[in-house]
Amino acid sequence: MNKLANIVVLVSGSGSNLQAIIDQCESGQILGKVVAVISNKPNVYALERAKKHNIPSTLIDHNAFDSRESFDAELAKYIDNYQPDLIVLAGFMRILSRDFVVKYLGKMLNIHPSLLPKYPGLHTHKRALENNDETHGASIHFVTPELDGGPVVLQSVINIKNDDTVDELQERIAQTEWLIYPLAVKWFCVGALKMSQEQVWLSKEVVNNLTNLQRFYLKTTLNDEFTCQIIINTNGAKYDEESSVKLN
Ligand code: GAR
Repeated sequence: MNKLANIVVLVSGSGSNLQAIIDQCESGQILGKVVAVISNKPNVYALERAKKHNIPSTLIDHNAFDSRESFDAELAKYIDNYQPDLIVLAGFMRILSRDFVVKYLGKMLNIHPSLLPKYPGLHTHKRALENNDETHGASIHFVTPELDGGPVVLQSVINIKNDDTVDELQERIAQTEWLIYPLAVKWFCVGALKMSQEQVWLSKEVVNNLTNLQRFYLKTTLNDEFTCQIIINTNGAKYDEESSVKLN
């Protein structure tokens, strides 16, 4: 893609991940443009964020529809006005119908606050604490019809502290989300990240840009307070041989 990729973002809440992506589009890190923001919930802060950046936004309230399919059909109609290259689910808390997911297969990414395949669904932080897990994190994955079951692109991993509460854990995980989601979007927008045969493919350049040691995890220090490992799914080194994308 030489032109900027058109990105449509679906939200249901605060939109902090949306903000991280908008910021990197505006700074030129992501060769893409958020062309529309859609919320299924009224009065959410994500819609305010879109307005502040002069991004067209709309509310499509799922409560106004009598079936999942009719809501999804309206959603698709609106999305298609913007001819998106990529659809980003950023805290979009709504299960999508199979037809909708299949229509955008390979073009839709989601962020989920757990180390998938652990804890698909809701209350992930609470479940990690209740199970006395030592680590927790967030995953970026392609969306497939199985809920939170599509192939994982990359994950952030942090240590759980003995006295962590759900809120504290959620807050730390959120900070890591703002690192990994823009990274995956950046790769997708230059054609360096694809899904094919339900697997993740990264361009050789992405992989080669990581040193051998860094290939499977990068360690990042956030706020001088905690470190986060970033695990990149290189899928047993299935690099996209065709791609000749040059990353910044
Ligand atoms: C994020 O933590 C994201 O992982 C989670 O919602 C939050 C949205 O925050 N997504 C899910 O739970 C999806 N199942 P944001 O609105 O501030 O980006």
